[in-house]
Amino acid sequence: MGEWGVGAGLDGKGVVVTGAAGGIGREVVAAFARAGARVMAVDLDQASVDAVVAGLPAAGHIAVAADLSDLEQHAALCEQAHAQLGSLDVLANLAAVLRRRTTLDDVSEADWDLQHDINLKAAFFLCRAAGNVMRRQGNGGRIITFTSQGWWTGGYGGSVAYAAAKGGIVSMTRGLARTFGPDGITVNAISPGLVETPMLTDGLDEATYEGLKAATPLGRVAHPRELAGPVVFLASDHASFISGATINVSGGFLMY
Ligand SMILES: NC(=O)c1ccc[n+]([C@@H]2O[C@H](COP(=O)([O-])OP(=O)(O)OC[C@H]3O[C@@H](n4cnc5c(N)ncnc54)[C@H](O)[C@@H]3O)[C@@H](O)[C@H]2O)c1
Repeated sequence: MGEWGVGAGLDGKGVVVTGAAGGIGREVVAAFARAGARVMAVDLDQASVDAVVAGLPAAGHIAVAADLSDLEQHAALCEQAHAQLGSLDVLANLAAVLRRRTTLDDVSEADWDLQHDINLKAAFFLCRAAGNVMRRQGNGGRIITFTSQGWWTGGYGGSVAYAAAKGGIVSMTRGLARTFGPDGITVNAISPGLVETPMLTDGLDEATYEGLKAATPLGRVAHPRELAGPVVFLASDHASFISGATINVSGGFLMY
């Protein structure tokens, strides 16, 4: 066990965060850096990840542009993290896309493929690549995946395609937790409710937005920063006996 603090055990650890230029991702990157970790921030656009890393305390962080739907890049990314951060101890995989579609019939094959390729398929191959590096290092590790309340509700109308991919994340997280457990690697999912980011607000009409807020017992949407604490917690010594869990961070939108 490291020092008894919020980021216990994270000082000097190597952390990869994907979706790092996104609304939640940038807060997760900043929280890990504040906890003393060295962070590799991964997202599609180099200038965006450069901007995220430029604002971080301390040195040793890296900004990497990668399209994670290209599975060929995953092993190299994990090796780069291991080499440049000194070790790969934590993967927080946030990268995802939402194609907002109203009805079932609005969902095209391309919509289905895009959301499943990035949200589930790329997640599996990246988690596997990171877990294999952690295994080789022999010091355990932490893998944190991102699902959504849709894993539980199944989504509504056209959002079933996104929800199905996020349901797959929960199943996958449990399976990886069983497989990597003997190597001291925990695997857990974060399940956000409504979070004020482009993914929530882009293309969402005002009435639906207000309805979702009203359905949240706390009566508001989350600031992206409110998701960073649970991620850092799962990566810290405080969560050393939590694995295969889905942590519901929804302000009570659903209760499980
Ligand atoms: N915002 C919400 O209300 C909400 C609710 C439930 C779950 N989530 C989940 O939280 C996570 C973070 O979402 P967010 O709200 O910050 O969304 P966001 O759209 O702000 O960020 C997602 C990031 O992923 C990146 N990305 C997309 N495809 C990629 C690819 N192929 N390769 C590399 N990077 C890629 C995007 O460029 C973007 O920066 C996602 O997994 C999302 O599904 C969000």
